[in-house]
Amino acid sequence: MSGSRQTIDVRPVTDALGAEILGIDLAAEVGERQFAEISAAYDEFGVIFFRDQRLSPEQHLGFARRWGPININRFFQPVAGYPEIAEVRKEPDQTRNIGSLWHTDHSYDVVPAMGSILYAREVPEVGGDTLFASMVKAYDALSDGLKRMLEGLKALHSSRHVFGQAGDRDEYGERIGNPELATQDALHPVVLRHPRTGLKALYVNPNFTLGIDGWSRAESQPLLDHLYRHAQRPEFTCRFRWRPGSIAFWDNLATWHLALNDYPGQRRLMHRITVEGAPLAM
Ligand code: SIN
Repeated sequence: MSGSRQTIDVRPVTDALGAEILGIDLAAEVGERQFAEISAAYDEFGVIFFRDQRLSPEQHLGFARRWGPININRFFQPVAGYPEIAEVRKEPDQTRNIGSLWHTDHSYDVVPAMGSILYAREVPEVGGDTLFASMVKAYDALSDGLKRMLEGLKALHSSRHVFGQAGDRDEYGERIGNPELATQDALHPVVLRHPRTGLKALYVNPNFTLGIDGWSRAESQPLLDHLYRHAQRPEFTCRFRWRPGSIAFWDNLATWHLALNDYPGQRRLMHRITVEGAPLAM
C-alpha cells in the first residue's frame, strides 16, 4: 500500500484482493487521517474487512454517509425504522439465500452503486462465508487480443429477471418485494475505467447482465460465459468467514461477490447499506 499507515493496521487476505483492517473502532469518531487511510486500503484491496464492531443502525449509517449518499435498495426488506438499511436474512426454515450467484450490487441501475457495507448481526456457527473476486485482476489477466475486442463494448444489465414479476422470487417470501419497481435496465461498458483508481475492470456479472449490446444472444452468451469462467478463477478470489460484528465493505465497480448457502437450519442476518456511485464513463 502506497504511503505510510499511521492509524490502522492493514493485513492483506490474498494476493488478489481483500484486507483486514485492525486497530479501529467504527463506533467511535473516525478522524480525517484514519478515514484517508481506510479509503486508500479500500481502493487498493477492493474489499476491506473489520472485526468485532458494535454498531447501532445510526452508527452504521453514519459511517456509510462518509462515503457518499445512500443508494436505497428497492427490493430488499428494510430494517424496521431504517429504510436505508437492507436486510440480508435467511431463517432456519428457509432454503434459499440472497446473493448466491456471483454479482455486483445494483449493476442494473443507470448509476450503479459504488460500494456496499455489510454488517453481520447473526451468523451461523459454521458456513455462510462470502466469496469475493477481483474484476481488476480478472481483466488484467485477459489476453491483449481479447482486451482489444472488449474495448468499446457495452452490456445490458437488468433487475427484471431477478426481482421483477417474472423473476423467480417464490422462495424469498417477504424478504424480497416491490416487483413492480424492477423496471431498471442499464447499459454499461463491459470494461470500465474505475472512477477512483483509474484502473480497468471487467463490469459484467452472471446475475444481472443480459447480453452484449448489439449482439444476438447466440453470439453474446458464449463470450459472457467465457468471461465468467475466467473471472471466478480461484487466484482472483478471497473468502471471508463471518463472526457477529464483522463488516465487509466492498467496491462494486472492482469486485464480484457471492454468498455461500451452506448452513441449512441456521439463521444468518446481515444489515447492508449501499453507497451511491457516479455515472460510468462510456
Ligand atoms: C449480497 O449479495 O449483497 C449479500 C452478500 C452476503 O450476504 O454475504
